[in-house]
Amino acid sequence: MSRRLQPEFRSATPAPTANSQSHEVALASLIARIRTAWLEPASPMRDQQLSRALIDFCVDSPLPAALGHADPDGYRRVELECDMRQGWRLLAMVWGSGQRSSLHTHGGRPAHEAIWRGALTVEHFESTPLADERVLLCLLARDALHAGDAQVSPRFHEDIHRCSNEGDEVCVSLHLLPLESPPQHDFELCSDGAFRIVDAAVEHHETLHA
Ligand SMILES: [Fe+2]
Repeated sequence: MSRRLQPEFRSATPAPTANSQSHEVALASLIARIRTAWLEPASPMRDQQLSRALIDFCVDSPLPAALGHADPDGYRRVELECDMRQGWRLLAMVWGSGQRSSLHTHGGRPAHEAIWRGALTVEHFESTPLADERVLLCLLARDALHAGDAQVSPRFHEDIHRCSNEGDEVCVSLHLLPLESPPQHDFELCSDGAFRIVDAAVEHHETLHA
């Protein structure tokens, strides 16, 4: 029986509201807040600052038309900003109804995530090692994240998770990721129901104004 998790951070007002700023102004404000918070050493306080900045952006910014449609071939990864000097990247991911990620880890890399539109389910798993570098995966918990919710990953020690859009409308999520990339892994289903750990596929992304 898996646990149902509460979002770590939640908007004080339901999102989306009547967005109060242009997308460009809201994005510039978000980038400035990320750059300020990024100067701080990692701490729960910094996690809270970054999560609040992402939530405020989700509430304040209208969704650009370019992010309003899903790709039937799989969820979209769209770069909104990349700061090579500070070492972070901000991505929007666009999830069509029924679309989901692979089962994967981020190699322990911390990530800040927020929901801009729609809803996203994040399932967390724990593994039991088997022979031949295979594992059994057991569902630990489910996050049901809605517009205006934010969280910091990893949520559990093993960080094995999968995101899916179980709703009818397109979901757009924000992901703030460090640029350094420790080994990441995917989990490939074997014929006997166990999983094999494999290197993660190379991640490609679009740019918003391409
Ligand atoms: Fe992930």
